[in-house]
Amino acid sequence: MACIELENICYTYKKTGQSVLKGVTAEFQNGKLCSIIGPSGSGKTTLLSILAGLDSPSEGEVRVNGKSLREMNLDLYRRKEIAMVFQSFQLLPLLKTLENVAYPMRLNGADKTAARARAEELLKMLGISEDKWGRFPANLSGGEQQRVAIARALSTGAGIILADEPTGNLDQKNTERILDILKQLAQESGYCVVVVTHDMQAAGLSDHVWRMCNGMLQQEK
Ligand SMILES: Nc1ncnc2c1ncn2[C@@H]1O[C@H](COP(=O)(O)OP(=O)(O)OP(=O)(O)O)[C@@H](O)[C@H]1O
Ligand SMILES: [Mg+2]
Repeated sequence: MACIELENICYTYKKTGQSVLKGVTAEFQNGKLCSIIGPSGSGKTTLLSILAGLDSPSEGEVRVNGKSLREMNLDLYRRKEIAMVFQSFQLLPLLKTLENVAYPMRLNGADKTAARARAEELLKMLGISEDKWGRFPANLSGGEQQRVAIARALSTGAGIILADEPTGNLDQKNTERILDILKQLAQESGYCVVVVTHDMQAAGLSDHVWRMCNGMLQQEK
């Protein structure tokens, strides 16, 4: 069954009147790694924000596991059901690395020790060494911040991962590491993983590829 269904999604930025999405119809399944590709400015991040419930479409409907986002409590949806990796990371600047990763688990009620232990495990998995765990994000490199943001997204175990250019700042070795992790989460844990990317390696590894073109998504694979 489709995990996320998009039906004729249209979106216009009110401030500028620019119509960015013009009838996006697509679906993303559990157990699959799906890529969205397309030129800069074509609306990929805008679409991801709508999938994440951060913004509502001007027209059309997003259904997640059969239920319309319009009928859902979007705070709970964002906290429990999805994990978002932002293009600009959005790490909390006043929290240290480990605290950034532990934070969503604490919000969801995990106790401090369990949240820290899981955060340590995730940071190790993403290749962030212990000497960086006590640093503020401003004192990490771009690629390190990106990997911390991915660790944070994986921390709650939410079954839908929305990742905006998750390998945009990474070298080859770390790109492969992240793609392996995302692919494994889809294949072995049945997650629905949607990745916006310019990286053809990521698109090549994906089960499905959609291209954003003229405000619509076309399936290429
Ligand atoms: N907050 C905003 N207010 C007004 N216009 C916006 C806003 N955010 C994005 N846009 C415009 O909407 C269009 C789509 O932007 P979006 O960020 O979704 O593109 P994108 O496909 O993610 O691009 P990139 O690959 O560069 O990240 C662009 O023309 C952009 O200028
Ligand atoms: Mg973008």
